[in-house]
Amino acid sequence: MPRAFEFSAALLAWFERHGRHDLPWQHEPTPYRIWVSEIMLQQTQVETVMPYFARFIGHFPTIAALAAAPLDQVLHLWSGLGYYARARNLHRAAHRVIDRHGGVLPDAVETLQTLPGIGRSTAGAIVALAFGRRAVILDGNVKRVLARCHALDDPPTIAAGERRLWQLAEQYTPQQRVAAYTQAIMDLGATVCTRERPACDRCPLAAACVAQRQRRATDYPRRRPARGQPVRTARWLLIVRADGEVLLERRPPTGLWGGLWCLPECALDEDPREFARSRLGIDIDLGDELPRISHRFTHFRLEATPLRCAPSGGARRLMASGDRLWYNVARPAAIGIATPVSQLLKNPAVFHQPVMSVANDPDRGVKTHGPTG
Ligand code: ADE
Repeated sequence: MPRAFEFSAALLAWFERHGRHDLPWQHEPTPYRIWVSEIMLQQTQVETVMPYFARFIGHFPTIAALAAAPLDQVLHLWSGLGYYARARNLHRAAHRVIDRHGGVLPDAVETLQTLPGIGRSTAGAIVALAFGRRAVILDGNVKRVLARCHALDDPPTIAAGERRLWQLAEQYTPQQRVAAYTQAIMDLGATVCTRERPACDRCPLAAACVAQRQRRATDYPRRRPARGQPVRTARWLLIVRADGEVLLERRPPTGLWGGLWCLPECALDEDPREFARSRLGIDIDLGDELPRISHRFTHFRLEATPLRCAPSGGARRLMASGDRLWYNVARPAAIGIATPVSQLLKNPAVFHQPVMSVANDPDRGVKTHGPTG
């Protein structure tokens, strides 16, 4: 672990030569201007923010001017910058500063954090950059720099990971030149220690960076493993008649896709011909499988494997009924079809290849595997 002094000294030396010294809010770093810039810079790059900042400050040069403006005008000037809750919070906070703080932005991290839209890191940035007092920041750029330097195994998104990052941020923040240090570590994260292609050969911290030593910088910060969503599998029977019409079934009124029209569905380990005979009263010939369809529901993922089939020559005729119909894609009936099914029916492969009769193969249907396995 680099000693705190060496860490900040290396960063400050780099900042002198390579940091950003000419940003609009740096020219006249009043607390209000720094506050507005820090809110705009949340989740947004400097280049994007610059014209918005100039326009916003032009219209609302003071906290009082901002508080006096109608919200609509504030939102109008924010228009295009995104994350509009930031603008609403800024406006509410301006009112709060007028009402409760005598129109003066508080200069303590704890008090700033009571204002709408100002979290711990933004409060730290305002105190360091606008008031020049020691305060700690931990925005996305800083998290990346620290997570790489220490090759932290916990992702920042879990409590232990975030706690450790705040600890390191606290440890490295110097007592002196804190404004320069704060801008330096953000600039390093934004211009050198970038998410996708970090320029480790230009990094003043490379010698101390554990991730760089392992040539694994982009593996950090660790990401939270995707929550394992349960998977449900099914086989969808694409029973297509010689005239191109497809058999659809209406699902029960409650439950998944309640009342919508879908393809007949059987379990993967069920014999589709048996299923068709007993459930639909029809004999079918089996064709090939089409690529598996994956559809996300709130609590699980459905993986459906479409299987092309055709009614076999001597089959009993399957009659359309209230919950079953032959669907003509060229002349679609006005019915509600589940989205993945209507998407599937747009695939010409559903209709264009002939289904070869494999009715004599007793294994067919239970062990078929499509291109996706
Ligand atoms: N991101 C958040 N605050 C910033 C700042 N002051 N300079 C550059 N990027 C930032």
